[in-house]
Amino acid sequence: MQQNLTRRNFLAATGAAALAATATTGSTAEPGGAKTLKILGVSCSPRQGMTTAKAVQAALDAAKSVDGRIRVELIDLGGLSIAGWSPKPPKDDFDAILPRLQDSAVAGLIIGSPSYFRSLSALCKAFIERCAPLREPKMLLDGKPVGVVATGAFRNGGQELVIEQVQAAMLCFGMIPVGGRPPAFQGGTVLSRKDDLSGDDLGLSTARNTGLRVADLALRLARKEA
Ligand SMILES: Cc1cc2nc3c(=O)[nH]c(=O)nc-3n(C[C@H](O)[C@H](O)[C@H](O)COP(=O)(O)O)c2cc1C
Repeated sequence: MQQNLTRRNFLAATGAAALAATATTGSTAEPGGAKTLKILGVSCSPRQGMTTAKAVQAALDAAKSVDGRIRVELIDLGGLSIAGWSPKPPKDDFDAILPRLQDSAVAGLIIGSPSYFRSLSALCKAFIERCAPLREPKMLLDGKPVGVVATGAFRNGGQELVIEQVQAAMLCFGMIPVGGRPPAFQGGTVLSRKDDLSGDDLGLSTARNTGLRVADLALRLARKEA
């Protein structure tokens, strides 16, 4: 009996410790006591500041509008050199990005990729592969929402396929893929005509709706943890 009790106490103690160790609050307390929830946007076009970055920024702006506790940050991978995973990762621009992803305030991600031959960009794939340290030794993104925004030069240029590919990969990180509010059922599907998004109000609204959904869920999860 004593042995059982001891074992139970031990399990309770280690369970609590394990929970504390794996807690992924995705929030940090500000001096006034309010929690900051950071939504990171990652634009995975090799072209810096172009349509994918703009679409991700639109999603981030919408996310920020949801609540005063939401902070947003864009990481534009355009022009950066990021190789895919290898047993001995090379020294490249990912080194400076990793700490931003490891920040305990990160409460959600919005990943944007152009459609390249109806698939995610090689840069996006390389970025996701290099995120492996976010899975081990600790699942840092576990239980956090991820929304995806895809741009393409054609109306049916594979944007939804790209979203699906990125969502499938982020499931390996324990993330919760979200779509947007209707009609953005899968995420942000944006049409870039001659490098210009301004004619695609519907597409931009799907990007914004994706940002809103990521922020909504991040807030709901933070409330549950409080
Ligand atoms: C190699 C390559 C392949 C592309 N394949 C597609 C495609 O399959 N479908 C599509 O809609 N657009 C395709 N595009 C167009 C880009 O997806 C589109 O211009 C996108 O908005 C570029 O994003 P950026 O402005 O952020 O660089 C392709 C562009 C390149 C360079």
